[in-house]
Amino acid sequence: MGMSPYSDKVMDHFMNPRNMGDLADANAVGEVGNPACGDVMKLFMKIGDNETIEDVKFKTFGCGAAIASSSMATELLKGKKIDEAIALTNQAIVNALDGLPESKIHCSVMAEEAVEAALVDYYNKAGKDVAEIEKMKAAVKATKE
Ligand code: FES
Repeated sequence: MGMSPYSDKVMDHFMNPRNMGDLADANAVGEVGNPACGDVMKLFMKIGDNETIEDVKFKTFGCGAAIASSSMATELLKGKKIDEAIALTNQAIVNALDGLPESKIHCSVMAEEAVEAALVDYYNKAGKDVAEIEKMKAAVKATKE
């Protein structure tokens, strides 16, 4: 790898993204963008009756780190419960990728935001209180500080 600032894992997920594409029967869809770089990320999840993420896919128009972060996020989400998805931080994605350069941390933040946007969509469709998501996220952040 030599001079590359990217870990082997980042390169692997960039070159061979996991779970890329549409999910026709998704019931949780989140789309976020970063106006500074213009990158856009869309995340699709199929959440089952028992609040388990049965399937997850992504489409990202963005840099390599954003694609790697989305790909890793889908791997971390599959089979998890909603509360675990809410607790998924960009730092967990960065750690799973064996790190990202400082200037690319925002790419992983976009992945966390896409997950949150998809969960908000799911809560809205299910008639659940969206404020719960923010509360749970704040609680997770508080325990990490
Ligand atoms: Fe913006 Fe990577 S440069 S998401």
